[in-house]
Amino acid sequence: MVTAPSSLMSNRRTFAIISHPDAGKTTLTEKLLLQGGAIHLAGEVKARGAQRRARSDWMKIEQQRGISVTSSVMTFEKEYSGEKITFNLLDTPGHEDFSEDTYRTLTAVDSAVMVIDAAKGIEPQTRKLFEVCRLRNVPIITFVNKVDREGRDPFETVDEVADMLALDVSPQMWPIGMGGQFEGILDFASGEVSRPQGPSKEFLGRRDRDPEIPDNFAEEAELAQVGYPEFDLEAYRSGDLTPVYFGSALKNFGVTELINAIAKHAPPPRPQPAGDEQIAPDYDEVTGFIFKVQANMDPNHRDRIAFMRQVSGTFRRGMKLTPSGLGKPIAIHSPILFFAQDREIADTAEAGDIIGIPNHGTLRVGDTLSEKDTLRFTGLPNFAPEILRRVQLKDPTKTKQLRKALDDLSEEGVIQVFYPELGANHIVGVVGQLQLEVLISRLSAEYKVEAALEAAPFATARWVKGDQKAMDEFEQFNRANLAKDRDGDMVFMAKSPWDVNYQVEKNPDLTFSATKER
Ligand code: G4P
Repeated sequence: MVTAPSSLMSNRRTFAIISHPDAGKTTLTEKLLLQGGAIHLAGEVKARGAQRRARSDWMKIEQQRGISVTSSVMTFEKEYSGEKITFNLLDTPGHEDFSEDTYRTLTAVDSAVMVIDAAKGIEPQTRKLFEVCRLRNVPIITFVNKVDREGRDPFETVDEVADMLALDVSPQMWPIGMGGQFEGILDFASGEVSRPQGPSKEFLGRRDRDPEIPDNFAEEAELAQVGYPEFDLEAYRSGDLTPVYFGSALKNFGVTELINAIAKHAPPPRPQPAGDEQIAPDYDEVTGFIFKVQANMDPNHRDRIAFMRQVSGTFRRGMKLTPSGLGKPIAIHSPILFFAQDREIADTAEAGDIIGIPNHGTLRVGDTLSEKDTLRFTGLPNFAPEILRRVQLKDPTKTKQLRKALDDLSEEGVIQVFYPELGANHIVGVVGQLQLEVLISRLSAEYKVEAALEAAPFATARWVKGDQKAMDEFEQFNRANLAKDRDGDMVFMAKSPWDVNYQVEKNPDLTFSATKER
């Protein structure tokens, strides 16, 4: 989908980086922020390991495991072609397991950068993330990282992207001699040849002018240039083509080219679906949706921040917006913009921006916020959990606290919670194993609730819908397998995928869905 002309004027670029752990996402993020002047960290780039993590990670478990579990938002600005561009970078978790958080983050961006390790190619997780982007029409720019060290033949990498992702690829640069005698990288646009050197680059010459550029350079670059399609903006924006950049996040090489490509090609804020309507950035009121809620970011304050992706209008501090889940307006007095590592109070925000709204639980993931309260954004799904567990309370006097904690954490999208029709134990569902560890650790650290998880006799769940009569009948025969979700909607807990198929066949009047639209 190519954005409507009205929004082409926007200087916002809201994007995410998708990658496999260790591909270099953190390093690239730092370099992007550095380019945007958002951080001035002579020594800080080197502040690796524990120190770096302590700075960017919020939760205990992240420190323990050295990974980033939650997504965050970073805003920075940079001039491109005489215009100041505001970049909103949404961080997606970089661990093996998926959470719904990841999916939802990708509903809040307009484009993505896919980082691939030059030596490793595309790994399964990157592919899964890519599929989500495709599902959501999020176009991708590819950054092949770590070209400063020995990697695979770049033809192999590029062909793999094309084959595995069924995409046209259009290299914008080409490294010569990778995997053997590395010589340098040609930028097709400028004709310049250079290579990573220290914190910047060493200029080697121009392909067309300088005789010292080796012959094999011209040949291989020629092959690469004629062998792949030319960049086509429309094909990129509709998700059929990815431009490919080669670089080194560590050596800050190719990062300028990447950021310029985002400024030049990546789509500005696009319309978002609200039922049958598409709400464009120039719609005549401020609207947005909550794609993430982060509780207890500051353990001393027990604050809770809802992240809103603004869809339309110009937001002004103090403005009243109505959250769809609440039904009455709230005044937003201290909206937060996330400038790099600092939080700032936002006076205004535009479509495409992400603002953090401190609240005490009134805002939930999936809520629409608007001035007039007449529309609802659609397309923020709950996914059927792949792992279901019973929650076993160690101290039975803490039932109330447990219920509160599970409600909170399900609001955040960390887990889904199900209340069985029979039996007292709550059942939690997650999409990835790691979420279970997050759950136990947060129950203990933030709610002082010690709990354990035990096997539940269920493998997956489906939301059931149908007319009253069919529902009543189904309920009568399957009570032991039924639960209510947090909204009171009926959920069928299945022992196996076979169980699901069986019920689907047996109950043609009911629908069993693996996702639930909020
Ligand atoms: P991630 O967020 O995707 O998990 O990756 P991260 O940036 O943490 O990078 C993973 C490792 O790869 C780090 O090394 C980092 O220094 C290295 N790296 C990132 N970009 C490049 C690059 O362009 N070239 C080379 N050669 N290495 C790169 P580490 O030793 O695992 O981490 P640390 O001990 O330096 O923190």
